[in-house]
This record gives sequence, structure tokens and C-alpha cells, in this order.
Amino acid sequence: MTEPASSAATIYVLNGPNLNLLGLREPEIYGSQTLDDIADMLDDRGRELGFEIDMRQSNHEGHLIDWLHEAQAEGVKAVLLNAGAFTHTSVALHDAIKSIKVPVIEVHLSNPHKREDFRHKSYVGMAALGTVCGFGANSYLVALDAVSRL
Ligand code: DQA
Repeated sequence: MTEPASSAATIYVLNGPNLNLLGLREPEIYGSQTLDDIADMLDDRGRELGFEIDMRQSNHEGHLIDWLHEAQAEGVKAVLLNAGAFTHTSVALHDAIKSIKVPVIEVHLSNPHKREDFRHKSYVGMAALGTVCGFGANSYLVALDAVSRL
């Protein structure tokens, strides 16, 4: 295995399916902020904490897996991962998280435990270092602050 490059102060923030529609999508559950708004919030807080935020979104499971592998290869400090509905279905994402040494924090805007039964199982959470959920867009900020204390 090749040694990771040094991006020790970089945080990847990976977002899965349908999160490109934040702001429009079920605002009563997910709020009115868009993913760009959240990226701006994270950039501001990241600057205060000395982190560079690399925010990405894809509707494709394989992209998220490739980005997790890339996080390892690039030696990033941590990954915040909101895998959307793949959270509840993807053994492949579970395995990808377990395949890397970079700490992965599971993030959700809503609290899946209060919602439908099919959202109660998290393949991501079973492999992640920790989970932040239920605080709307602030879940991402809480996760970023947690990463700053690692
Ligand atoms: C979500 C929760 C998931 O259950 C859902 O499929 C999403 C969004 C959240 O951020 O609350 O797409 O990850």
C-alpha cells in the first residue's frame, strides 16, 4: 500500500443521493437550507478551526466508495458522510468505511431513529466512528467540531 499524501487538515464532506435537492426536498423534514448553504457554513467554521473543507455530492453509490478510498490515499483528517438512503442499504459503503483508517463520522439532518422502521438500520453507522443526527444542517457543524477534537 502506498503512503498517503499529506492533506492532514482537509476534511471530506460526502453527500449521497437526493441531497442535491436540499432546500426543495421535503423541507418540513430536511429544512430550507441548500447543500451550498451548508457548504458555506462548513467553510466558515472550517476556516476558524484550520480545516479545508472538500464538499461533494453524488447520487451514485460507487462515487461515494471511490471518494472514501481517495480520502485514505490523500491522507485527509476525517470524512463526514451523509450517505442519504444508502445509509440503510449499502454493505459496500460499510465495507469501504472499514477498509480505510481515516475516521468517518455519520451525519444526518433528520433523526432516522424517529422515522420509518427501514431507517433504523444503518450500515454506515455500524462502521463509522460516531454519528450526529437530528440537528438539521447543524448536524454537519457538530460533526466538524467533534473532528476538531480528535
Ligand atoms: C438523511 C436520512 C436518510 O434516511 C434519508 O434517506 C436521506 C437523508 C438525513 O440527512 O436526514 O436521504 O440521510
